[in-house]
Amino acid sequence: MLGGNKEPAVTEEQVLNALRKVIDPDLGRDVVSLGMIKDLKIDGGTVSFTFELTTPACPLKDQLTKSVHDAVAAVPGVKSVKVKQSAQVKEDARIELKLNAPIRNVIAVSSGKGGVGKSTVAVNLAIALARWGAKVGILDADIYGPNVNIMLGVSGTPMVENKKLVPLRAYGLQVMSIGFLVPPGEALLWRGALLHSAVKQFLEDVAWEEMDYLVVDMPPGTGDTHLSLAQLIPVTGGVVVTTPQTVALADSTRATAAFKKLKVPVLGIIENMAGDIFGQGGGELAAQKLQVPFLGRIPLDPAVRIGGDTGQPILVSNPESETAKVFLDLASKIAMELSKLNVERPEPSKEERMANMKLNIGPGVGTH
Ligand SMILES: Nc1ncnc2c1ncn2[C@@H]1O[C@H](COP(=O)(O)OP(=O)(O)OP(=O)(O)O)[C@@H](O)[C@H]1O
Ligand SMILES: [Mg+2]
Repeated sequence: MLGGNKEPAVTEEQVLNALRKVIDPDLGRDVVSLGMIKDLKIDGGTVSFTFELTTPACPLKDQLTKSVHDAVAAVPGVKSVKVKQSAQVKEDARIELKLNAPIRNVIAVSSGKGGVGKSTVAVNLAIALARWGAKVGILDADIYGPNVNIMLGVSGTPMVENKKLVPLRAYGLQVMSIGFLVPPGEALLWRGALLHSAVKQFLEDVAWEEMDYLVVDMPPGTGDTHLSLAQLIPVTGGVVVTTPQTVALADSTRATAAFKKLKVPVLGIIENMAGDIFGQGGGELAAQKLQVPFLGRIPLDPAVRIGGDTGQPILVSNPESETAKVFLDLASKIAMELSKLNVERPEPSKEERMANMKLNIGPGVGTH
């Protein structure tokens, strides 16, 4: 205390009021109501707090941190501001309710037809999210033609602990693929019930560790696996991959319609393999027509294919390349779309929680 010329003490209310004027441009709300201000301490003219982002993949994180800093610094009587930046990924609360697994978000990567680059996008998106600092897993749900394992260069048989399969690891990701469990081609005839139980096992009988994002690589088309996945787990958002050609519209329409039918929010469309040969624009046009966000355009780049073939995705083999940056940018957009959905979704009601508690106890209880 210096005594003498007393300045009015800075109040918490003044600081919060100043912070309420800072709007997160992606989420469209102020940082206080979004719960992003933690551990606020005021000590004379020194204000300190933690600024908690809804995802480490927030593209504007430094700019936003500066905005909250400056907003508080402008409050009369504030001499210094200490902001600690952190991130806590917003969760889709429905997942834990339904699955009892520590997964905050599920992203399904889909397309209307085969060979457009779903697996490539899924793998690089997962690594990109991890590069941003998130905890990420990838599930290869292409039971008929698994290749996430190949693209990540990971093989082996998962260990079993407490009756659960332990995911393998690659580039910091938790990885699970039917490719680890059955010889190539064996699952080709699986349909209906068998397929459903395989997907169920992948979700329920895997010892998934805590993760912010589970990326699911879907099989081509819009068939049984989609239905099973959506029945077994709340899918937070779906991403549609398409090509630059004009047929992209028809393909994206199918994939988007399938997600909508299953009540999976469509995060947007990615146009893959853009370039001289295939041109560009089909994906963007499809996004406009279907009124879903256009997430971005990945160039046709031989390094992408080589990366997939050699088990070293481009984000690993050429992390500084333009194409790698495109994936980082896509990851960030997707993470923000998920944050938006989770911020806007009402908390599960008491009834929903109760209903699920009964489900978790298992059938039979209380029925006799
Ligand atoms: N942007 C790109 N540039 C160059 N090659 C690419 C690009 N995207 C994907 N590829 C290549 O195209 C082929 C098909 O990609 P991928 O296997 O990811 O497609 P998919 O949609 O998952 O196929 P499927 O429907 O069979 O599961 C692969 O050889 C992959 O390396
Ligand atoms: Mg694939």
